[in-house]
Amino acid sequence: MDNKNITFIGAGKMASAIIKGLLSSKTFDDKHIFAVEVNEEAAKRAKENFNIKVFSDAKEGIKDADIILIATKPFVVQELLEGIKDSVKDQLIISIAAGITFNKIENILGVNKRIVRVMPNTPALLECGMSAVCKNDKAAEEDIKLVENIFSKIGKVIRCKESDIDAVTGVSGSGPAFYYYIIDKIAKAGEELGLDYKTALMLSSQTALGAAKMIIETGNTPQELIDAVTTPGGTTAEGNKVLKESNIGEILSETVRKTAEKSAQMGKEN
Ligand SMILES: NC(=O)c1ccc[n+]([C@@H]2O[C@H](COP(=O)([O-])OP(=O)(O)OC[C@H]3O[C@@H](n4cnc5c(N)ncnc54)[C@H](OP(=O)(O)O)[C@@H]3O)[C@@H](O)[C@H]2O)c1
Repeated sequence: MDNKNITFIGAGKMASAIIKGLLSSKTFDDKHIFAVEVNEEAAKRAKENFNIKVFSDAKEGIKDADIILIATKPFVVQELLEGIKDSVKDQLIISIAAGITFNKIENILGVNKRIVRVMPNTPALLECGMSAVCKNDKAAEEDIKLVENIFSKIGKVIRCKESDIDAVTGVSGSGPAFYYYIIDKIAKAGEELGLDYKTALMLSSQTALGAAKMIIETGNTPQELIDAVTTPGGTTAEGNKVLKESNIGEILSETVRKTAEKSAQMGKEN
């Protein structure tokens, strides 16, 4: 990417997924990717897997960076930023740390910094992630485009406002866990009917994958697709009736709402 240098602070699961995507898509080469990592195991893994230079000192690691990507757990971000604030110049700051607001980062680094927040999710590890990106006032259109380009290497990307991030966390950031739960429950129901769990889990998870692809690739609404597979008086109609008469809609709504509330609360605490 125009010979820009990108430094990841934190080279854990998410950073590794992004680095893998950037290298395999040739968006950056290994000479332009750097990492700062305090955990020796993670540092060793990043060096071995990606052949990139890994620093233990953050100030050293960002010295030649054009882009700084914060990928540590949220609770260390404040201390981390305090430690590097005098060494940050005009780099574009990207943060994937949940609940760390623009305000928080600006309070430490200064209000003139270009910052883009991203909320990715773990299927990014399989280049099937869903990321939402938003920029602060100082960041330019070309900054957010660059970030969209980076995250498009590990899945789909949408733009949002910072005020949407908590809702995004409820739907897609934490969302994989909710789908895992549902997929498991459907598989267990198959097991109760005599299938072995492994087979039932394959049936359930591949069906979830196929249903999601049908929504994304046909452009039909979920209701249109439900109607298309439902014959009046048939098998699907029988199952649909149970779902409709239950309060599953309210339960899922409450699940997403509570998650978003927690995200908002963490944003205030961090
Ligand atoms: N995983 C998700 O689904 C998801 C989704 C959306 C957003 N995020 C965000 O992504 C961020 C990273 O998550 P992750 O799952 O990739 O975490 P992770 O695997 O724990 O990676 C973070 C790495 O940073 C290291 N680290 C801690 N303090 C550091 C410092 N001061 N300087 C440099 N490295 C430091 C950690 O070492 P130690 O382990 O020794 O502390 C760890 O190796 C989080 O802020 C999270 O909110 C994650």
